[in-house]
Amino acid sequence: MREDRTINQKLNSIEKTEKPNLSPINQSILKIWGPSHLQGNINISGAKNSALPAMAATILSSGVCRLRQIPCLADINTMGKVLSALGAKIKHNGNTLDIDASILNTTEAPYELVRQLRASFFAIGPILAKWGKAHVPLPGGCAIGARPVDLHVKGLEALGAEVHIEHGMVNAYISGSKTRLQGAKIVLGYPSVGATETLMMAATLAEGKTIIENSAQEPEVEDLANLCIAMGANISGAGTKTIEISGVPKLHAVDYTIIPDRIEAGTFLIAATITNSEITISPVVPKHLSAVISKLESVGVKIQQETSDSLRILPGESLKCTDIETQPYPGFPTDMQAPFMALLSICSGTSTVTETVFENRMRHVSELNRMGADIQVKGNTATIQGVPKLSAAPVIGTDLRASAALILAALAAEGETTFQGIHHLSRGYEQIEVKLQKLGVKLQRVDSVER
Ligand code: UD1
Repeated sequence: MREDRTINQKLNSIEKTEKPNLSPINQSILKIWGPSHLQGNINISGAKNSALPAMAATILSSGVCRLRQIPCLADINTMGKVLSALGAKIKHNGNTLDIDASILNTTEAPYELVRQLRASFFAIGPILAKWGKAHVPLPGGCAIGARPVDLHVKGLEALGAEVHIEHGMVNAYISGSKTRLQGAKIVLGYPSVGATETLMMAATLAEGKTIIENSAQEPEVEDLANLCIAMGANISGAGTKTIEISGVPKLHAVDYTIIPDRIEAGTFLIAATITNSEITISPVVPKHLSAVISKLESVGVKIQQETSDSLRILPGESLKCTDIETQPYPGFPTDMQAPFMALLSICSGTSTVTETVFENRMRHVSELNRMGADIQVKGNTATIQGVPKLSAAPVIGTDLRASAALILAALAAEGETTFQGIHHLSRGYEQIEVKLQKLGVKLQRVDSVER
């Protein structure tokens, strides 16, 4: 279906019409005084994008699941609310979640919550596989693109589900006289992370063998497979383009620790690069960061693996331009595109950044330009003419990673940046203010301001 749209056309039309939304929720601001010099060690939190599907996967289990290293984030709270609304019981203890989703009161997820968090749609797979029916609202578009769910729906149909979409609700049933989904061969038209996860979870309890071809290879997909395997599922090939799942009748409880967040780790590596600083980050899985590390090295920094799960970044002599194109894993991650562009804005020479995954992911550009960057966007490609320095300005974040980009720019900029959009950051960066302060950044949150 991705052939149906032209990213360039969508991007152009959206850029011309959309302005940042200044709702009351945006009123808190973060003041950052730059330029910063960072030093020290940073603890990387558990991966948000592993934690969210892992929470949904607990629906498959017949017992209480313990998930460890779950970051305290707004998105995790929203997913918790979705599970609670379905009837699950959740206990939160620091970064550990105990979830009993073995019995649900309802198979219908509430629209008010699903619309806030697209990943909660992924629960449709486990609900349907375990209870034979699921009613989950269409999550709708978001700040970075239209984000349809057609691949999830087609895949569930291939597994034998009957799916009707009415009044914005996806109603899925195991059809006919069958009580379980039926294993099938599914070829995804695009290696969607969410569709791979939805279908892999659904197939764990299906009758027979499922093969998902052109599956997403992201580390979070592999982590979810490992969680399901620890619950008794029979899955091979996760992390490659072909995943095979032999369905089992039942999955049991699990105690599972999720992987570190490679996007948070990449963001801190950029923070060190943009401020010419030396820091250590851990825990990380260095392999998960290969594409980002290789681009940071072409910019001019040195990255050393200190132990099996820690990286030290050392400043280079100067920052040089490079070109980036976002791709599904193992390519350069779309979630690092905006943060990396903040860095490229002060790298000497001309860089290009091409976004191929989402059609509306350049909304940080105008704000970076307000901070002195020289970036022009044509279609889905940004051309960045490196400037010697950025200058502080009042800026507004429009989504999670765009906000991270502006914070990174503020670290390098001279003067006081006032950043509006903390609620976006708290969706994906655990204790971001505390971590930045620990590294030596001068910042202050101001809770309510008139603009
Ligand atoms: C996940 C990540 C997100 C990341 C993205 C791409 C989570 C919770 N979120 O999102 O941080 O940016 O992967 O790495 O894990 N698409 C369709 N039809 C579908 C599904 C997707 O056309 O049914 C399109 C999307 O609109 C998008 C592209 O495929 O253009 C990639 O989306 P997908 O990989 O599904 O991203 P998410 O799983 O939503």
